[in-house]
Amino acid sequence: MVSAYDILGITASADEETVLQAYRARVKEAHPDHGGSLAEFNRVRRAYTHITSEASADQFETETATGTDANQDVAQGSNAESTPPSSSVSPSDNDTEETEVVGPTVEYLDYEVLDEYGWELTDPDLFAKADAVDLDSDTHGIFIVEPRESILEAAERYGLFWPYACRGGACANCAVAIIDGAVEMSVNTILTQGMLDQGVRLSCIGQPVTSDLQVVFNIEQLPGLRELRLPADQFSTTRTDDPS
Ligand code: FES
Repeated sequence: MVSAYDILGITASADEETVLQAYRARVKEAHPDHGGSLAEFNRVRRAYTHITSEASADQFETETATGTDANQDVAQGSNAESTPPSSSVSPSDNDTEETEVVGPTVEYLDYEVLDEYGWELTDPDLFAKADAVDLDSDTHGIFIVEPRESILEAAERYGLFWPYACRGGACANCAVAIIDGAVEMSVNTILTQGMLDQGVRLSCIGQPVTSDLQVVFNIEQLPGLRELRLPADQFSTTRTDDPS
């Protein structure tokens, strides 16, 4: 039986950081948009959930055999109607045995990479170009947003350090540019209509309303956003690793 560690390509003695890095690399490879399949994507996700929950190897074998997921009750529980849409198997998928629902996926890219390579936010091949170069997982990758999570919270759960300050929609430190997909914000008192029209959204109060998103983070260089930023140290809940 293949273990959860085998699926991530690591040993059982791997430390937390190694597990996270392996997961981030494998989940990207396994994503259907990157040459993988939904079955493989879910297999990798299930392996990571298993390792981080420290469940028994027997439990993982049972979950794998039955196609269940440790988080499935959360994703499909009594609040399912209020959760964002999730991706599911399409009829064209060859992996017909895999019926598990997964949360919205976010493919992210650091704006600094655009600067470095001279790419434009409006380039329709932006993420294809990012795939073609060797970027580390802090700058380009994929994560899953769980029900009731904001995009920023999901990014942080994956160990990413994205800029933020207030975490409540009162600044623009956490702004991201939505390249593909849609995001709903609980409120907006700060972004101008022009910014909204450009696809700018606040990741701290934004949740995906499509099954897949492509976002560029770290976009303070875009016109008007720097003026809306606040010093992170004004907020007592701010993490010390905030790059603001
Ligand atoms: S961190 Fe201030 S609006 Fe998101």
